[in-house]
Amino acid sequence: MSDPPSCTLIHLAGRACSLVLEARPDRLPVWRHWGRRVSPEGAPSLGELRSRSSFSLNEDRPLTTAPGFGAGDMAPAALMAHRDGRDFTFEATGVHIEQAGDVVRISADDTVAELRLEQEFRLDPTCDSLSVVTRVTNQGTAPLEVLWLAAATLPLPATCASLRSYTGRHNAEFVERDEPMPAQAWRRERRDGLTGHSGPPGVFALDAGAGRHGGTVYGVQLAWSGNCVLEISRSEDGGWILQAGEWLAPGEMRLAPGETYETPELLATCSPDGLNGVSQNFHAAIRARVGWPGGAMRPRQVHLNSWEGFYFDHDEARLMALADRAAELGVERFVLDDGWFRGRNDDTSALGDWTPDPVKYPHGLGPLARHVLARGMTFGLWVEPEMVNPDSNLHRAHPEWALQVAGRARQTARNQLVLDLGRAEVRDHLFGQLDGLLARLPIGYLKWDHNRRLTQASGQEGRPGFRAQVLGAYDLLDRLRAAHPEVEIEACAAGGGRIDAGIIRRTHRFWTSDNIDALSRLTIQRGFLAFMPPELMGAHVGASPAHATGRRQSMGFRAAVALPGHFGVELDPAALSAEETEDLGTWLARYRDLRGHIHGARVWLGEAADGVVWQAHGDLEHLILLVYRADFPQDRQPPLVRLPMLAGVERLRVRLLATTGQGPREPAAFTAMRGEGLAVSGSWLAQSGLPLPPMTAESCAVFELTATSSSKC
Ligand code: DGJ
Repeated sequence: MSDPPSCTLIHLAGRACSLVLEARPDRLPVWRHWGRRVSPEGAPSLGELRSRSSFSLNEDRPLTTAPGFGAGDMAPAALMAHRDGRDFTFEATGVHIEQAGDVVRISADDTVAELRLEQEFRLDPTCDSLSVVTRVTNQGTAPLEVLWLAAATLPLPATCASLRSYTGRHNAEFVERDEPMPAQAWRRERRDGLTGHSGPPGVFALDAGAGRHGGTVYGVQLAWSGNCVLEISRSEDGGWILQAGEWLAPGEMRLAPGETYETPELLATCSPDGLNGVSQNFHAAIRARVGWPGGAMRPRQVHLNSWEGFYFDHDEARLMALADRAAELGVERFVLDDGWFRGRNDDTSALGDWTPDPVKYPHGLGPLARHVLARGMTFGLWVEPEMVNPDSNLHRAHPEWALQVAGRARQTARNQLVLDLGRAEVRDHLFGQLDGLLARLPIGYLKWDHNRRLTQASGQEGRPGFRAQVLGAYDLLDRLRAAHPEVEIEACAAGGGRIDAGIIRRTHRFWTSDNIDALSRLTIQRGFLAFMPPELMGAHVGASPAHATGRRQSMGFRAAVALPGHFGVELDPAALSAEETEDLGTWLARYRDLRGHIHGARVWLGEAADGVVWQAHGDLEHLILLVYRADFPQDRQPPLVRLPMLAGVERLRVRLLATTGQGPREPAAFTAMRGEGLAVSGSWLAQSGLPLPPMTAESCAVFELTATSSSKC
């Protein structure tokens, strides 16, 4: 480790990206570059470059890694804090910078405000993913009220032209929103204690001309499952300034003397390879954060989830019969969803009482679990530990354990209240309950749900309890993971309400959406894949008509849409026709065949003309390509699908593995593709495009592309 001399450029270099800061004596470093990889040697210092504009301070104030407040910086402040209305300005002076390999640590003291600021920039050069956290420590003698602390302040260049972000609600997650860069500011905020259905707290900024396959794109996501702020403001110097951090409620962050507040981690990346490049970087960063049982991902087992097939209507004999049918189909994990515990016959009661219902399961869950295991499947169980129904034994015993605001009418949502996970005794109780279940029963998997917002998150002392709730949930998950490291956990929150890089450190799958209509899922899953890799994406084949939308879809289309994710079945197979059962069995076998190529691999998303969308999984040597048509074609001939990433591959063999809903009279080339395959050049596929067979509305074609040195197939 070494102290850089004054005017030193600090460079973190990845494969394709660089971060360059300029160190200054006794000041926070200044941003010089975050973007495509550069060699900064020889770059003039800012002092030599910047002129003093009119009507500004005599001293130049370029953008630092943590702009101050009330002391000259014009950029949005990285820290807003005060002591009873005083000590409200912030300007770091005593600055120390260390670089050790791919990590830069900055510490700075403000002796006037009596606080210390620390920042850590950690680059994973293999995937160009930057992780940034910031800490503030109260070095004064009175409490410091922190209103805002940015996890990171990042520059976006003036070449940026647009933003891509997501909104969403229950059953409609990941609604893509594109808009021009803001003339003033763009802000996304969550104040209800949960990640929410708009997906991870993240945003993408695109350089002019950038798109799916090329151009420089910047992306961030906050690794946090609670309140958040993302803000992009126009800089007076040109370009924009991006900040992200935790949204703190009034009074939520009061640091006693000596105490420290650390922000959630911000993941930031940029890529010259467009949106797909950024998503691939994110996928690699997320993969590095998943703690798989045994240290490595095992093939993602096919699920059967009981929810939409049975809802609360549990009966041991019927569920055993369901397990028999699931095993015959080729299912590998049987997940018993909501409805199994004492008195849980609808959503009005019983949350909190985590013992099996004696009427539905007279001998407990043991017989069903063993029945499942005897059929070669693993057994999974649904829980919603953070919640309690007022009509429950737990609430009757401990009404004070629910979050509530004294003096205000208590609000229920889905008839439930939120337990105060800020209280150690609540966490201990929940740990005891869950640990007991896991110790008594052969449970290999928990589906961990969270079905309401935290509208009244007031903790024990009447203070805001949002952050304590997130940390409490993390702590409970961490304790359970430590006690039962072989158990996988699925993060669910009324579908996709808690999909983020914070919870994934302690979980292994996301439930993407309660909407399993395949048409809806086409867009929801593309949004998911912008941030998260496919092996974490719970994707189920549901009933037709779909419960969320009422639409009917063929078995083939439903299965083809679920195929690239972590595949599951969420229906009662007894309700299927013989033909549907056979079809489902074929797709399930196909999933088992292909998952090894799809999971853990790179993903490219793309669009062709006439409403066709595609996604490719694998690497440039071997790709599984899924082409989907949602709607009836408007053109007479199917569009060509350009695959730009293949431009540099000499020759590929293209095989058509499967189609659903193909039109009549398939031309001869596709018959050949279904057999030995067709040998074509990568440049042909990239520039001219892959021809498609005729496809009807709501259909899919699955191709396999293998690089080959020979021109023959
Ligand atoms: C919401 C989840 O998203 C569903 O999959 C299901 O588990 C229900 N909760 C059960 O109450």
